[in-house]
Amino acid sequence: MAKLGSISCRACSGLVGKKNVTVRFTIATIIGIVVGFLIGISFPTKLCFPSSVIPYIEDRNWVTTQALLNHALTSARNRSGNNSNDFNDTLKTYVPTKPRGAERLPPGIIVSESDFHLHRLWGNPDEDLTIKQKYLVTFAVGYDQKKNIDAAVKKFSENFTILLFHYDGRTSEWDEFEWSKRAIHVSARRQTKWWYAKRFLHPDIVAPYEYIFIWDEDLGVEHFNAEEYIKLIKKHGLEISQPGLMPNRGSITWRMTERRGDHEVHKETKERPGRCFDPHTPPCAAFVEIMAPVFSRDAWRCVWHMIQNDLVHGWGLDFALRTCVEPAHEKIGVVDSQWIVHQVIPSLANQGQAVNGKKPGEARVCSLCWLLFGNVQVEERCHKEWRMFQKRMEIAYYMEIGFPPPT
Ligand SMILES: *[C@@H]1O[C@H](CO)[C@@H](O)[C@H](O)[C@H]1NC(C)=O
Ligand SMILES: *[C@@H]1O[C@H](CO)[C@@H](O)[C@H](O)[C@H]1NC(C)=O
Ligand SMILES: *[C@@H]1O[C@H](CO)[C@@H](O)[C@H](O)[C@H]1NC(C)=O
Ligand SMILES: *[C@@H]1O[C@H](CO)[C@@H](O)[C@H](O)[C@H]1NC(C)=O
Repeated sequence: MAKLGSISCRACSGLVGKKNVTVRFTIATIIGIVVGFLIGISFPTKLCFPSSVIPYIEDRNWVTTQALLNHALTSARNRSGNNSNDFNDTLKTYVPTKPRGAERLPPGIIVSESDFHLHRLWGNPDEDLTIKQKYLVTFAVGYDQKKNIDAAVKKFSENFTILLFHYDGRTSEWDEFEWSKRAIHVSARRQTKWWYAKRFLHPDIVAPYEYIFIWDEDLGVEHFNAEEYIKLIKKHGLEISQPGLMPNRGSITWRMTERRGDHEVHKETKERPGRCFDPHTPPCAAFVEIMAPVFSRDAWRCVWHMIQNDLVHGWGLDFALRTCVEPAHEKIGVVDSQWIVHQVIPSLANQGQAVNGKKPGEARVCSLCWLLFGNVQVEERCHKEWRMFQKRMEIAYYMEIGFPPPT
């Protein structure tokens, strides 16, 4: 136990301290050992302090990785003539006249896109919908978080389709809420938000929605209004965005997503020295986190394609979002005047495999970190996925330009 505590607090301290890294780490390690030990002896249940992505990134020579991806990206754009016009043309020429598989059908009968609009079973089909919702909001939920989700859903007007992904298999219980009857419920046990997103939010299925919110269940929405939010992202031309984050407990992982009291919206920030390869690249700009992203229809069409079927945690996706919009540092941003609080509820803690005979939920979580995982195995998997995703991105871009990635 003491050992666990020390690993994690060393990691978490990266978020909190401001001074010399070594000193900070050493002190934190000692505190970690002591606290870990004390907690270890005072609680019978297993307590685990998850580490954060920050020290991990610093350890892995993060800037080099970003630089590599950047090089691959610019090379790919370069090859397509460095001309956004050409790039646009390439996009335009790839519009098949009929979808694959539908070649035998006359175009007039082909319906290649769908939606989540609920229809009644009688009457005139074209009179079924009293409101055609223009926006979609999804939450991956467990019933234990019902209070929080109820509060969140109420911040979204009737112009939103509500889609709940249930990871605990409990769907009918939600009918105690009036809005549940007009929501879409999808149930699959112990899956992550990105697993659902890949399977149930295909761009052709969500095509009618102008904006798509893919949110975690543990967000505090007291100071958030979805209609106002949409006005702002339209006004500022944000294709990918998130509400500003107010620190709750602990500290903010990235400065970019921290709420600024004196702004309506911000698109760039100053990070700690050495974190940004370029002021226009993540995490200084062109960046939002994966906990509460909002995508325009077009941005989502790109992002969906980038989500890997086997990498279910979505780690690394936040840093790659910029490849989907151009210029990314202008079209990705954070809305400060509609903001949220990350409540730090360890929902994923229940989703890992049992460790040492204990149910995963028993591994209680206590942490200052934003990225919460009550389960060490889940956390390891996140890090592994992050590396794999990064590697795949690099290789893909280099393959596209026809030479192998530099080693
Ligand atoms: C882009 O193309 C120009 C001219 O062909 C070349 O000088 C430059 O090195 C290329 N940049 C990259 C990143 O490949
Ligand atoms: C491509 O664009 C970049 C910046 O927009 C510029 O630095 C570079 O020289 C351009 N390359 C070519 C081949 O035009
Ligand atoms: C490329 O297309 C986008 C969207 O259609 C447009 O906003 C942009 O101005 C175009 N770029 C050029 C260089 O034509
Ligand atoms: C829903 O959308 C309509 C049409 O854009 C708008 O007039 C209405 O005010 C919206 N509803 C709310 C609650 O904002």
